[in-house]
Amino acid sequence: MDNGRRAFLRTTAGAGAAYAFIALKDNWGEFISNANSMALDRSPEEMSGDKPFWFQVQQAYEVDRSMINLNNGGVAPSPRMVHDAMVRQLAITNNCPPRQLWTLQDPQIELVRVRLAKAFGCDPEEMAITRNASESLQICLNGIDLEPGDEILTTTQDYARMLNTIKQREQRDKIVMKQIKLPVPVESDDNVVALFESAITPKTRAILMCHIVNITGEILPVKRICEIARKRGILTIIDGAHAFAHFVFDGGSLGADFYACSLHKWLSAPIGTGFLHAKGRIKDLWPLTAPAEPRSGDIRKFEEIGTHPSAPRMAIAGGTYFMRASARRKEERLRYLRNYWVDKLKDHDRVRIHTNLAPGHSCAIATVEIDGIKPVDMVGHLWAKHNILTTPIEHEDFRGIRVTPNTYTTLRELDLFVEAMDGMLKNGVAGKKS
Ligand SMILES: Cc1ncc(COP(=O)(O)O)c(C=O)c1O
Repeated sequence: MDNGRRAFLRTTAGAGAAYAFIALKDNWGEFISNANSMALDRSPEEMSGDKPFWFQVQQAYEVDRSMINLNNGGVAPSPRMVHDAMVRQLAITNNCPPRQLWTLQDPQIELVRVRLAKAFGCDPEEMAITRNASESLQICLNGIDLEPGDEILTTTQDYARMLNTIKQREQRDKIVMKQIKLPVPVESDDNVVALFESAITPKTRAILMCHIVNITGEILPVKRICEIARKRGILTIIDGAHAFAHFVFDGGSLGADFYACSLHKWLSAPIGTGFLHAKGRIKDLWPLTAPAEPRSGDIRKFEEIGTHPSAPRMAIAGGTYFMRASARRKEERLRYLRNYWVDKLKDHDRVRIHTNLAPGHSCAIATVEIDGIKPVDMVGHLWAKHNILTTPIEHEDFRGIRVTPNTYTTLRELDLFVEAMDGMLKNGVAGKKS
């Protein structure tokens, strides 16, 4: 592209270009190519604060702006493109479910598998499409062979449902769960690696760990731990519920045996979508729902769960397509939004941020505490008085509220959140002593 055209696109990347985009909102190919033109040769870091560019992305979501959702880590809305695709596919199913679902739509899932595998960085034959990270992780935790006394190593900050799954195996199969405590905030990757390494024993058969810890937003050095585990013949089960499509990484090169993800969080795919990536160990892993050949090496054996809708799974493809407009830019924008509110609050003497804010350590998610106010009271007040949604975190080692904006979040919405936090710092929580 010549310099004249670059300059033209830069100057029109203001309000005029923004309105042109709205008109194009149902033509997603153009939306994406125009978004790319707006970015031109500017780096993701430079683009992270570009108002006209992110205005376009905000418009791609039809969300109710009378409330401010800062719990996108819980479950996120889909952009209109993805939502519409799901609604269309549901209607197609409903025309004649047995035929449409099983002979028309289900076979199309194969292309979704290919797209998803490409976005994650693996072979499609290693990618099972599931309903969420919980299902994927339970396939792993219940599906590996373990003897009484065998140990699964994990942390006290792993997701409660997964810890409960291991506890159930403790009761049923007399295995043992070992948990390490991660510092809050984590100081360094070396520190985390050393903690895992020193907790491995001759009985350790598997490691369950988060790629990004949901209660602090800490990104853990998964690749290094997988390498250590592999050398010792220990299986790795990575809980990537919050990682894929949040920050950029090459899933295939992490070296994990099993990697689980929810797609209704950061990919903005329809609710009830997730995946399980299994590398080389498919035959050894028992499915949750028994297929005709449970020891098969075909990844599809994990998808034999009985009748379920095709529509949400088909619309995953829209999520991967939408992701092509951003990926690295999305990651930087999410950090920009996180820093936007954190920078306005972090120096207050009663505010504590429980997240390591260095770029390699975190992205959109941060957890904040106000000394003297319970997280549940903070969350209740933010919702009751300001229509702002956050989530309380009560852990044995720390507490706070988790704040997760998404790319559709506006700076004005974050200003309103900061104003509400300032109000709590000055006046406490309605009806409670601070
Ligand atoms: C770390 C982690 N793992 C697993 C899950 C379960 O995800 P889902 O409910 O989508 O199965 C969550 C949900 O928030 C999570 O934060």
